[in-house]
Amino acid sequence: MFKVDYSLKPFNTFGIEVKAQKFARFSSVEELNNLFQEIKAQSWPFLILGGGSNVLFRDDFKGVVLRNEMKGISYSNLNENEVIATCGAGEVWHEFVLNTISEGLYGIENLSLIPGSVGASPMQNIGAYGVEIKDVFHELKAYHIATGEIHTFNKEACAFGYRESVFKRALKNQYVIVEVSFILKKKAELNTSYGAINDELKQAGIDSPTLKDVSDAVIRIRQSKLPNPAEIGNAGSFFKNPVVSNSLAEKIIRAYPEAPVYPLKGDENHKKLAAGWLIEQCGLKGLTLENHGVHKKQALVLVNYGSATGNEIFELSSRVIGEVKEKFGVELEREVNII
Ligand code: FAD
Ligand code: EPU
Repeated sequence: MFKVDYSLKPFNTFGIEVKAQKFARFSSVEELNNLFQEIKAQSWPFLILGGGSNVLFRDDFKGVVLRNEMKGISYSNLNENEVIATCGAGEVWHEFVLNTISEGLYGIENLSLIPGSVGASPMQNIGAYGVEIKDVFHELKAYHIATGEIHTFNKEACAFGYRESVFKRALKNQYVIVEVSFILKKKAELNTSYGAINDELKQAGIDSPTLKDVSDAVIRIRQSKLPNPAEIGNAGSFFKNPVVSNSLAEKIIRAYPEAPVYPLKGDENHKKLAAGWLIEQCGLKGLTLENHGVHKKQALVLVNYGSATGNEIFELSSRVIGEVKEKFGVELEREVNII
């Protein structure tokens, strides 16, 4: 049932060479349940892994790594203009997005090319280019580890926030997400208000974009900005964009009038800053240590150039947090899950 001392290098996009003491795959609730009978009987620590694109392993994992391979995509009509798209948690997110596009359904095209699995998408309410999954989320089904029951969570129960959900907080390590469903639209409803998308469409000479045009534009923007994990190990943004008090934001703008500062919907007392900008101002963009560093084009992304250890990358992240705190008084929070 379990593989022993199994290399996790192909299973984390940082490409860190670590081993799992035990490793198993599951592609149904029944298999998952059987695995957990043993894990609970032996009190083994466990980790659920999808695409490994939002984790940093600091060391070998002394327990069981369970790789989610639950597949299947289906559609059902909700009403004249809306369809419920239901997807197994082990499907690759981008392939699911492409599938919805080929069905002519609107809603997640701005989230094209985000790495990872569908099952992890609610964990941090993935987002990009003006859309988060909470905007189209219907419900999810999750395996309750303590009882073996399947529980259904609606949007409210997931407590979604910016790169947040109840599964990262109060219910951490209590559930395995097995299926997620989204409400998508049949009629054209594109969201190209995010500046970079409009610029990209204009550059391509497209006046009335189709669903596929928007997806392709997002893919091109992402490919131009973010390192491809198949070439350079990384986990996307290493830190969240920080939310700070208005007074701290104003202090920073007084010193740096060009600083990117964003309003927060429904919160007049705080502003969001761009972590990438803060890190760049500290002179850290492109910093290259022996085998890892801060990406040259996007300071929010830490990279492994080949043989870095998880601890080296973690230490670099602590240095970044320290330097940003010292220069700006802003405390960056890691987005990547540290294992
Ligand atoms: P993993 O890394 O395997 O797991 C992440 C966490 O979720 C872990 O704690 C794991 O235990 C838990 N988990 C995974 N699956 C399940 C499950 N089924 N049930 C319970 N817990 C589970 N994110 C964005 O939001 N927006 C972006 O634009 C974006 N761009 C990225 C670009 C690059 C190049 C990379 C490498 C990453 C990017 N990310 C982005 C981060 C990442 O793609 C997302 O967080 C993604 O959802 C992670 O999916 P995964 O399957 O790889 O999760
Ligand atoms: N910036 C810099 N220097 C840098 C990087 C960014 O000055 O090195 C500035 C940019 O000029 C811009 C601002 O910071 O004014 C924001 O940059 P960008 O639009 O590239 O987005 P981001 O805030 O760095 C966020 C998400 C990404 C998501 C993009 C697009 C977070 C933590 N990151 O990045 O998500 O793809 O917006 O919507 O919210 C991820 O979560 O892993 C991720 C990649």
